[in-house]
Amino acid sequence: MSASDTVDNNFGHDITALFARHDKDYQELYSRHSNEQLVRMLKMIGYDVGFSRGEGPYLYDRDGVRYLDLLSGFGVFAIGRNHPAIRAALNNVLNSSLPNLLQMGVSRLAAILAERLLQRVPYLDKVLFANSGGEAVETAMKFARGSTGRAGIVYCEHAFHGVSYGALSINGDESFRSGFGPFVPDCIRVPFNDLAELEQALRHRTMAAFIVEPIQGKGVNVPAADYLKTAAALCRRYGTLFIADEIQTGLGRTGRFLAVEHWGAEPDIVLLSKALSGGYVPVSAVLMRKAVFDKVVDRMDRALVAVSTFAENNLAMAAGIATLDVLDSERLIEKAASTGERLMRAFSDMARRYELVREVRGKGLMIAIDFARPQSLGLRTAWDLIEAAREGLFSQLITIPLFSEHKILSQVAGTDSHAVKFLPPLAISESDCEWIIKAVDAVIAASHRVPGAAWSLGRKLASNVVRT
Ligand SMILES: Cc1ncc(COP(=O)(O)O)c(C=O)c1O
Repeated sequence: MSASDTVDNNFGHDITALFARHDKDYQELYSRHSNEQLVRMLKMIGYDVGFSRGEGPYLYDRDGVRYLDLLSGFGVFAIGRNHPAIRAALNNVLNSSLPNLLQMGVSRLAAILAERLLQRVPYLDKVLFANSGGEAVETAMKFARGSTGRAGIVYCEHAFHGVSYGALSINGDESFRSGFGPFVPDCIRVPFNDLAELEQALRHRTMAAFIVEPIQGKGVNVPAADYLKTAAALCRRYGTLFIADEIQTGLGRTGRFLAVEHWGAEPDIVLLSKALSGGYVPVSAVLMRKAVFDKVVDRMDRALVAVSTFAENNLAMAAGIATLDVLDSERLIEKAASTGERLMRAFSDMARRYELVREVRGKGLMIAIDFARPQSLGLRTAWDLIEAAREGLFSQLITIPLFSEHKILSQVAGTDSHAVKFLPPLAISESDCEWIIKAVDAVIAASHRVPGAAWSLGRKLASNVVRT
């Protein structure tokens, strides 16, 4: 036992004290015992600020500096961090002696959460719970194969459905797949928004399912007006199930409960996760038609084919139930729609004013600003210089100063992407919006000054990339 273990043990189960005690050495510990490259990367871009507290849309570093979190844990914190209603629901469970994980018994809280989810998606009939987005994807792939008797799964370029083997087999981004093949067979990739290619893949009637994110998380790619509805109709024509991966877009993120509602599409299977956790307990849900479920779980001895030990645990179910209540009581879905419109208007105005901005896209509070190679000579030369080191590096000239100078946490919308993505908590206020608009405008304006601080940062990043 090390000296630090002895001291830590004196804290017993005071986890917050343990957290505080390791303020100075946690990165070194993490580096030693877990992912060293992640620690190096965060240090290089200056994100190692020692976040110590989270509340609503804000994070606070060790010096008490407040940051606006437009990353939301990849979409987990739709209702904000450490929401008191979720905490109360979880405390209620913790302070009880409710039976949990009976396995030979069904979960009462799972039944209640399932009913409440289905009330919001009335054309679906059954829910299975799992522990993560990836696990929900795996479940959907199995049910598609099991219910249709077909093997094929059609998925889209740039899709992200997770990194477990089934999900990775339908991941449209090579950077996640590289080195891990071979993958699950019969997975066919088609371009997003291309109905002709989709029909080509479906028409042989060998495809069990077409899986698609209504708005792709990587890139924030928005479907053409008729894409999802026609894709659903094509699937029906060829006996293929239509799966909407709403793990990121669902539960109000885009200004509707499900993003597919914007386009009037009714999938056979809908996947939810992330926000359903209330930001506390991992959970996912697979909503499907009764016909799909009944084909797979068709006999009593098949009752346990889709089990997962922790899937219906009381804390996850309580977090889900309380999250749905908060979405309603705080009118967060309506708020996401109106706040999103406000931000989109402001960003679109920037697109008109700034040469480097190519496009603004998204729905509700899932928004990307896409940058592109500029026309004017000075800017174009600066762009080419850093993009030669790595495609997509320009985006860091937006996200890094947003973080270091304006205390806004955001992300690049995917490998090699020139899009900067914002996924704020749904309850951000008027003043948060002003904070965002002012900061984004200032950072984009700075990126148009050559020479300037932004491009000096670009050169530094480029030389780092070249060196590593
Ligand atoms: C659309 C989508 N599907 C699936 C996943 C995988 O979820 P998880 O990381 O919980 O496995 C993600 C995660 O970002 C996602 O955005």
